[in-house]
Amino acid sequence: MTGSKKERKTMTRSKKDRVIIFDTTLRDGEQCPGASMGLREKLEVAGQLARLNVDIIEAGFPIASPGDFEAVKAIAEQIKGPRICGLARCMNKDIERCAEAIAPAGARGRIHVFLATSEIHRKHKLKKAKAEIVKTAAAGVKYARKFCKDVQFSPEDAARTEPDFLAEVVRAAIDAGATTINIPDTVGYTVPHEFRDLIAYLYDHVNGIDKVTVHVHCHNDLGLAVANSLSAIESGARGVECTINGLGERAGNCSLEEIVMAIKTREDALGVWTGVKTEEIFRTSRLVSQLTGMVVQRNKAIVGANAFAHEAGIHQDGILKERTTYEIMCPQDVGIHDTELVLGKHSGRHAFKNHLQKMGFHLTAEELEKAYDSFIKLADKKKTVYDDDLVSIVQEQVYEGPRVFTLDYLHVSTGNQTVPTATVRLRREKEVFEDAACGDGPVDAALKTIDRIANVQGKMMDFSLQAITKGKDAVGEVSMQVAYGDVVVAGKASSTDIVEASAKAYLSCLNRYLMSRKKAPAKKKPQSRGKK
Ligand code: KIV
Ligand code: ZN
Repeated sequence: MTGSKKERKTMTRSKKDRVIIFDTTLRDGEQCPGASMGLREKLEVAGQLARLNVDIIEAGFPIASPGDFEAVKAIAEQIKGPRICGLARCMNKDIERCAEAIAPAGARGRIHVFLATSEIHRKHKLKKAKAEIVKTAAAGVKYARKFCKDVQFSPEDAARTEPDFLAEVVRAAIDAGATTINIPDTVGYTVPHEFRDLIAYLYDHVNGIDKVTVHVHCHNDLGLAVANSLSAIESGARGVECTINGLGERAGNCSLEEIVMAIKTREDALGVWTGVKTEEIFRTSRLVSQLTGMVVQRNKAIVGANAFAHEAGIHQDGILKERTTYEIMCPQDVGIHDTELVLGKHSGRHAFKNHLQKMGFHLTAEELEKAYDSFIKLADKKKTVYDDDLVSIVQEQVYEGPRVFTLDYLHVSTGNQTVPTATVRLRREKEVFEDAACGDGPVDAALKTIDRIANVQGKMMDFSLQAITKGKDAVGEVSMQVAYGDVVVAGKASSTDIVEASAKAYLSCLNRYLMSRKKAPAKKKPQSRGKK
């Protein structure tokens, strides 16, 4: 380890060693199967990213869908602080749409254009020769500059591109007016020394590269995204593209919490720093996990439930004597606090509202009333209500989005000598539907009954149950991914009763699917039990 604690404290931070944190949770992260978010959820995440003090938020790919366009535009209008970036291919229609979406951010807007450069992509995907790639990249950057002073160019699959050709494309993009060059390892193929050499090669072979900022964008297919990003920093890259919880296509992207905490914890060895407010990391991780339905694995570095847990007696003993024996970071530095006890059933609306605001939730009076109702019900059932319980309440009561069906009544009978049976009553506006079914367990029975009522067959792709807080009375949080044909949706719900949590999570998936089809179930109509 280079540099003592004392040296680190007195180290002066130069601006040239500041690593820009470019968060792409809402764009590349959202491309993760089943992790899609609605407008309200994206705005909440963007607001939290601003509190986390990331430098740039990539808010979406505006040409991809009207929903993406609206989300980028709303974020550009409402989120203050970070730069707001939108993605576009090197095509005029993409760039125009992107420019329109980021326009409300004014001088904080950025257009990010990309074009694949590797031989595999040129030959099989684009069917374009090298000269045409150079021309298209330059034209894309030039056109984007007509709308925006801040233009980023990415040669997609750069890590598998011939270095001399990559240098040629990057040079052309800089000459055309790119202000940031991003070097992606699109398929997570590179290894640290190779990526470090590639960035060094570009610094040595591209005129004008010292006038732009070089970012890197690493995918995690070999689990090397953070290591590769750190290697690139050694060669002079000063921007890292990353996502909360490492969310993203396939194995995901470079994880924001890991790269930021590596830089902070080993500033002595790396000599660089970021502007991230690390105390907001844990809250941001929880929020993204809640809103996307993507569970964080327990042993995930920095934000996993076990990241600061010490099981072995020797370790516990060491920690009690001196924390640094087995802890290289303070849990408080990432916003993890032992005492998260917040409110009890006697807490009034005012305290409840204040506490939610401190957590970053700004609800309307009507939303607040709904959330408060659920909080009181929960506080009646369990002694202690934690921050995580409140995040669940807000997620379910406020962000859940329009619902086709709601759960009115659930009864299960089960036991080791009983055929598990469920009776379920669902409500769709004023109509009420009731049915019963058996299953190989109470959860299976409840979900089968929901399928029968809705007349839609969901296939369970993933199911996980976690206790979100401590104690036997903990709230159980069920996350699942359900496939309806080739559409996969994610849902999450919590309750002190895990069968109820499972039924609600399943309904959340069903509602998302039905809303996406914009109509209630087809074919056979659900069995109505009459109007109420
Ligand atoms: O992985 C990738 O290459 C990308 C680009 C669009 C930057 O996400
Ligand atoms: Zn990517």
